[in-house]
Amino acid sequence: MTSQQVPFQFSKQVLAWFDEHGRKHLPWQQNKSRYSVWVSEIMLQQTQVKTVIPYFTKFMEKFPSITDLANAEQDQVLHLWTGLGYYARARNLHKAAQIVRDNYNGEFPATFDEVLGLPGIGKSTAAAVLSLANNQAYVIMDGNVKRVLARFYTIEGWPGNKKVEDSLWELAESLKPSERYGDYTQAMMDLGATLCTRSKPNCDECPVQSHCMAFAQGVQAEYPHKKPKKQIPVKTTKMVIPFYQGRVLMTKRPQSGIWGGLWGFYESSDTSQLPAHIQQLINNSATKLEALSPFRHTFSHFHLDIQPELMILGAAPSNNVNEPTIVDDENQQLWFDVHQASEVGLAAPTVKIFKQLQTMF
Ligand code: ADE
Repeated sequence: MTSQQVPFQFSKQVLAWFDEHGRKHLPWQQNKSRYSVWVSEIMLQQTQVKTVIPYFTKFMEKFPSITDLANAEQDQVLHLWTGLGYYARARNLHKAAQIVRDNYNGEFPATFDEVLGLPGIGKSTAAAVLSLANNQAYVIMDGNVKRVLARFYTIEGWPGNKKVEDSLWELAESLKPSERYGDYTQAMMDLGATLCTRSKPNCDECPVQSHCMAFAQGVQAEYPHKKPKKQIPVKTTKMVIPFYQGRVLMTKRPQSGIWGGLWGFYESSDTSQLPAHIQQLINNSATKLEALSPFRHTFSHFHLDIQPELMILGAAPSNNVNEPTIVDDENQQLWFDVHQASEVGLAAPTVKIFKQLQTMF
């Protein structure tokens, strides 16, 4: 094999890039111990590096050993966390330190299962601590790694989905180097944080660009796939529109519920629910029914499929006046010219129906 035919090795490329461009001077990368790396990883879970730096430095000054942390009052720990947010992280840190003091003689455990057993530590954090602090052969799966791998392999589906995440873990395992596990963990974080960013990734500088499937297809922006939108229910309604000589009959909606207090059309999912005076208009043999184009209106919590139905009256209705009419205690109605500029409150679907009517009459 000539030098041009060296097979592509993902981790080799990433590590060579790390040697030149990776971050090596962060405070938690100096005098590393499993304890200090653990504290930094917990702080970095939901917080940016530049915010974490002063908190980390102060925390390690105050609690130089895990036993110092275990022996502190919870208030002291929370006080040092003030401003970092997600205080369950601090409470778990304190609790875990006490478990280490009581069950592990104050020495942070070094096996994956023991670390995973401590409160507030998941698979990826356990892997980060053991690889970064001890160079143990574990790979991580944080947001950065998910983004890099989802793009590299154009992985379909949302990485928060268990099946998708499981396959990402498998791929991450398959790419694991055979040495320098700690550097590789840091390199993957750095690659995701500095080049393979969520928006505008810097593919020109990427050490694995030549084999990246998203880059090859120009679809980096589509990966990783977003969390699927929640399915919302579909409701249906019929809007009944009595029509006579260029005017339609509208009703003022009750104050509560959707479109409260706005003028709209009589609504029914079943014509028998219509008020008696509308039912009478329908029953009149001179009335012709004509379906208008159905359409969907989407609220935050449901879709409403609307079927507008025009009732063309053959005879003059008794109250065909262009002003609000009190039908009974609760119903106000109005015969409204379809071309008249609206002076009343109309919901978006009502406006849509008017637009249809204006093209017809
Ligand atoms: N985010 C999580 N862990 C990190 C680390 N070790 N360095 C930089 N950012 C991180």
